[in-house]
Amino acid sequence: MDLKLGDTAPDFTAMTTEGEIHFHEWLGDSWGMLFSHPADYTPVCTTELGRTAQLKDEFAKRNVKVLAVSVDPLDSHRGWIKDINETQHTTVDFPLIADADRKIANLYGMIHPNASDNMTVRSVFIISPDKKIKLTLTYPASTGRNFTELLRVIDSLQLTAKYSVATPADWKEGEDVVIAPAIPDEEIPSRFPKGHKVIKPYLRTTPQPNR
Ligand code: BEZ
Repeated sequence: MDLKLGDTAPDFTAMTTEGEIHFHEWLGDSWGMLFSHPADYTPVCTTELGRTAQLKDEFAKRNVKVLAVSVDPLDSHRGWIKDINETQHTTVDFPLIADADRKIANLYGMIHPNASDNMTVRSVFIISPDKKIKLTLTYPASTGRNFTELLRVIDSLQLTAKYSVATPADWKEGEDVVIAPAIPDEEIPSRFPKGHKVIKPYLRTTPQPNR
């Protein structure tokens, strides 16, 4: 399925290492990060799932539930989690979907046949509490994702969901943000009382509103 930003994240029921999950119900009012990995017992995937577990508090702080998926069966996931915990010095306590029949992989377009016809690529879907897809990202099997970047994107998405701002290149939490072009100049002082700078008529910045 060709999912686009703004689409409703397809709902599904799946068996996971934490029991059966009804996706939308499981998400509740949280944000979600659904991400696929190519295969269990592989090196890059081991580091990625370990890193996700290590960042548990960072995801929780942002009200984000994480859910991993690959086409491996449940007993494989369970055995592999022991290796991840041992080698990455962490405790994986988020669910891994066992998608042996590729139901979720196909629903979310996670198999790219010209890359591999029997493994999922490294897909990421960030989903807002209204179940809309806010970000998609696709990496090849050979490149582990940058989880600091994923947290940064979540910070940006959550900020722009609340205020009429966007975040510039390389923005990080605490830095100035860009005022949305749709906001007329005369509304800026009341909407952004911390002040603003007009660098060009179309490039107006303000301190991060929620700090
Ligand atoms: C890995 O996780 O290391 C990996 C998985 C599939 C293909 C290549 C690398």
